[in-house]
Amino acid sequence: MHYVRKVTEDIYWVGANDHRLSLFENIHPIPRGVSYNAYLLLDEQSVLFDNIDWTGCRQMLENLEFLLQGKPLDVLVVNHMEPDHGASMEELLLRYPKVKIVATKKAFDMMRQFGFDIDGHETAEVSEGDTMSFGKHTVQFITAPMVHWPEVMATLDVTDGVLFSADAFGSFGALDGKLFADEVDFERDWLSEARRYYANIVGKYGPQVQALLKKAAAVTGQIKYICPLHGLVWRTNLDDFLNKYALWSAYQPEEKGVMIAYASMYGNTESAAQALAGKLVERGVTNTVLYDVSNTHVSYLISETFRVSHLVLASVTYNLGVYPLMHNFLADMQALNLQNRTVTLMENGTWAIKAGDKMRKSLEEMKQMNVLAETLTITSHLSREREADLDRLADAIARSVVAAEA
Ligand code: FEO
Repeated sequence: MHYVRKVTEDIYWVGANDHRLSLFENIHPIPRGVSYNAYLLLDEQSVLFDNIDWTGCRQMLENLEFLLQGKPLDVLVVNHMEPDHGASMEELLLRYPKVKIVATKKAFDMMRQFGFDIDGHETAEVSEGDTMSFGKHTVQFITAPMVHWPEVMATLDVTDGVLFSADAFGSFGALDGKLFADEVDFERDWLSEARRYYANIVGKYGPQVQALLKKAAAVTGQIKYICPLHGLVWRTNLDDFLNKYALWSAYQPEEKGVMIAYASMYGNTESAAQALAGKLVERGVTNTVLYDVSNTHVSYLISETFRVSHLVLASVTYNLGVYPLMHNFLADMQALNLQNRTVTLMENGTWAIKAGDKMRKSLEEMKQMNVLAETLTITSHLSREREADLDRLADAIARSVVAAEA
């Protein structure tokens, strides 16, 4: 059965939802699924903006057949060639052999790298600022290299004010009948998954996202819709999401708050982390959250680091180093370029306690990470006599949170 949604008078969502995939990119859990978005413009020429993952190919083809009503597809614009958007292309080329493919030079290089037989088809290589007309509708191409692949571009339909933004402004989560952000409670139900998507998929490329935002600002008066390749389409309150992107891409926290992430083998580090959380809340830092790195997927931990201003990392010593899952969290923070956070360290061990020094070293390799001088070393178990040390730590963190700008 076809399943399409109208975006504007001439543009339709023709993608698919996926609830079967458990790990996006075979690494990030997606308990609420994901959507692969593609959009069809029906003008004098029919134009498909991007295609979708192989798993949704049949659905997309059915959607296209329904809307094209026996006519051929004339143009395929490829904004992004990653396989979750490019994999159905070979099938499209077989079904619509006269389709003209429009993409950047790098995208064409990638199509050949992926083994797509494009050279018998009509192609048009486009660059920054090029325009193309399909009848009533004219589009302008806006290159967006490294958001988050090098071939990426966005396409602005200047006629309807629709920005096809590739992965930018996307989210985890299947649409399931919804399409527009104003059809859901975005803050309550979608923001955390949009943040987790941004932080883990695009987070490393903050400067490149800033460059795209700058280009978008130049045409912002023209943008009435933002159509990403995953998740919801924006047609109202665009600034709300643009402002989130401005913060995330500048590595600025959204909120003053504390995330305590602990690695505990027998519950003693956990117990100290819980006691610290209580002391922070008592001091008015109610925006405090606590995560066990052993049972929280690192993509959720990373997402929270993009939200709050302060982190507490509490790790037991393991193999004379940092507990592996905390080590993995730190490696991901560094890989995703996290910056500009205030961090407090807690370490534990029964002998040769090393976790604190190793975590500090990792943080020193990141940019603008402010590690508070106050730290806490636990020897196996935090005894009642050392409560004053925990109070000192809580005081220092609370003072820093109050002083923070976020
Ligand atoms: Fe959704 Fe970069 O692919």
